[in-house]
Amino acid sequence: MTNVADSPATAKAVHPLEPLSEEEVSRTARILRESGHLEGDVAIAYITLHEPPKGAVLEGRDVSREALVVAVDRGAATTCRSVVSLSEARVVSWDVVTAGQAPITADLADMARVQSAVKAHPGWREALAKRGVTDIENVQIDPWPAGHFGLDIEEGHRLVRCIAYVRDKVGDNGYARPIENVIAFADLNTGEVVDVHDYGVVPIPPEKANFDEESAGPARTDLKPLDIIQPEGPSFEVDGHFVKWQKWSFRVSMHPVDGLVLHTVGYEDQGRVRPILYRASLAEMVVPYGETSPMNCWKNAFDAGEAGLGRLVNSLELGCDCLGTIHYFDAIANDAEGNPHRIANAICMHEEDYGILWKHFDYDSQQAHVRRSRRLVVSSIHTIGNYEYGFFWYFYQDGTLQMEVKLTGVLQTQAAQPGETEFKHSVPIAPQLVAPHHQHLFNFRLDFDIDGTTNTVSEVDVEAVPMGPDNPLGNAFVTKSTAITRESEGERMCDFPRNRVWSIENPSVKNRLGQPVAYRLLPGAAQTMLAHPDSSVAKRATFGRKNLWVTRYDPAELHASGDFPNQHPGGDGLPRYIAQDRPLENEDVVLWYTAGVTHIARPEDWPVMPVEYAGFMLKPAGFFDRNPALDVPPTHSDHCVDHSADGHHDGHQHDHHDGHGHHDGHH
Ligand code: CO
Repeated sequence: MTNVADSPATAKAVHPLEPLSEEEVSRTARILRESGHLEGDVAIAYITLHEPPKGAVLEGRDVSREALVVAVDRGAATTCRSVVSLSEARVVSWDVVTAGQAPITADLADMARVQSAVKAHPGWREALAKRGVTDIENVQIDPWPAGHFGLDIEEGHRLVRCIAYVRDKVGDNGYARPIENVIAFADLNTGEVVDVHDYGVVPIPPEKANFDEESAGPARTDLKPLDIIQPEGPSFEVDGHFVKWQKWSFRVSMHPVDGLVLHTVGYEDQGRVRPILYRASLAEMVVPYGETSPMNCWKNAFDAGEAGLGRLVNSLELGCDCLGTIHYFDAIANDAEGNPHRIANAICMHEEDYGILWKHFDYDSQQAHVRRSRRLVVSSIHTIGNYEYGFFWYFYQDGTLQMEVKLTGVLQTQAAQPGETEFKHSVPIAPQLVAPHHQHLFNFRLDFDIDGTTNTVSEVDVEAVPMGPDNPLGNAFVTKSTAITRESEGERMCDFPRNRVWSIENPSVKNRLGQPVAYRLLPGAAQTMLAHPDSSVAKRATFGRKNLWVTRYDPAELHASGDFPNQHPGGDGLPRYIAQDRPLENEDVVLWYTAGVTHIARPEDWPVMPVEYAGFMLKPAGFFDRNPALDVPPTHSDHCVDHSADGHHDGHQHDHHDGHGHHDGHH
């Protein structure tokens, strides 16, 4: 084993948050194998960096390089969690998980195995025959997480519910033709079909709904080229997974469950990098369906913890997914034996023009001062069954940071009886085809470090003042700031009529006006979970019931529904964390924000959904002494120059502006 520890990769100085290399992934598997942990029928779900303690990273202390491994022991039907020290070439821990299981994609071969088993199952084939489906070969089978409903069948199995779709060929949009009311329950460990339920025949919907170029019909012909040209290259610098752009600096990684993660986000100001966030990640997401039929009432996919969102990341294509001068980061994944493979172009980074950053036109001097805004986009797109989720972090030059989730892909569908017109919990989208109501709830874990680790969170409302001696004309309003002092007070809801925001402050660092330096969390689409609190999904996705939760930092608390939500009865994650009721004032606080979209489908969402958006903004509010983007230089585009030169002006303001060359004297 000495030769393993002495390999060159450990000798080289690597930043403690740099993702594991392919060599380190291989070595982790080798250490586990040599120590006997992979004997029997054990599949490695994922190997990822076991992030070192925050204190050690921030203080720049030497830390040992460790891997976090999640594995499935198929024989014992258990999930195992292990920490492996690469520096010391030893297994630090190997624990059997007592509640919940690894994501269903732990071994993609297991998924393929149950799909074949379903197709071969006589009971399932009989159900399809009743519906006139005989081309079994081309049927699409989607294994779904089974959820937790206290059914006998859930015990002792690594269970998936397989639902199916008719296709004429691979590549057809199967969701156009769901095979209604047939569910095959299968065990990923044994590869066997455990049971088949047929809830009654509904005819297969008649229409195909492919959306490839050929099927979509003649393309519009009036679209002229729009090219993004950066002749001197992009304005960012990259070193491994470390990025510097326009005073921002951060690290980026792809976690096998969380997906896109930002680390150590800071902004250079007053001659130093001021910390803002230590880690920002998706902490869980859930898609609960609001339809009561036997095919839909159990659907509530936890696409991070149940499906393994990070490993379902797309390889992005230049010019299609991303435009301009792109830097791609690859992700390293692994197979069940722990052999690494590279997912090329998993994370896309590029710059975008974003309209104006700030402007003022002075009538007396006829001078305009205007700056264009540019933002840095760091994104990844994940395909989970029928849906695509894009996670887009935007960095702006004024210190604003934004998360935008892009929801696209294909709706989850349900077949309707011919002539059926009344639908309570779904919307018709094509003949004999409806889309059930559902929600997409995303919880983001935001480990803020505003100018240091000790911060306080306040809820800030704007309220009207009653008319009276202090407000004789009735025009006044005030802000009301309330500190969140304990975890038991940290479950909060959005309040749009009060313009509610949350302020994350460092009480011991003041700006030049004597205010504590702060960032604000500004909500976007924010509906919370509609399912009843006693429902299975509400107990398991407690995070979805509130917009904000605040906890004290604990490196072991990373996931809103716990580390293993698959087949978990609920109660793990945020409800367990906040039960400690830790004090939150002037502490290392973590915000857990739930962004929510309620999706009542439209015909326009079919056959493929135009992007829908969800997310939030993080805005400096007294973090800086003034507009931090004053120093952004004016733009001198060819367009502006042409206007001054040829005198083709179309308006008064333009005339003066260009004619006098008021581009801040840089002409
Ligand atoms: Co949707």
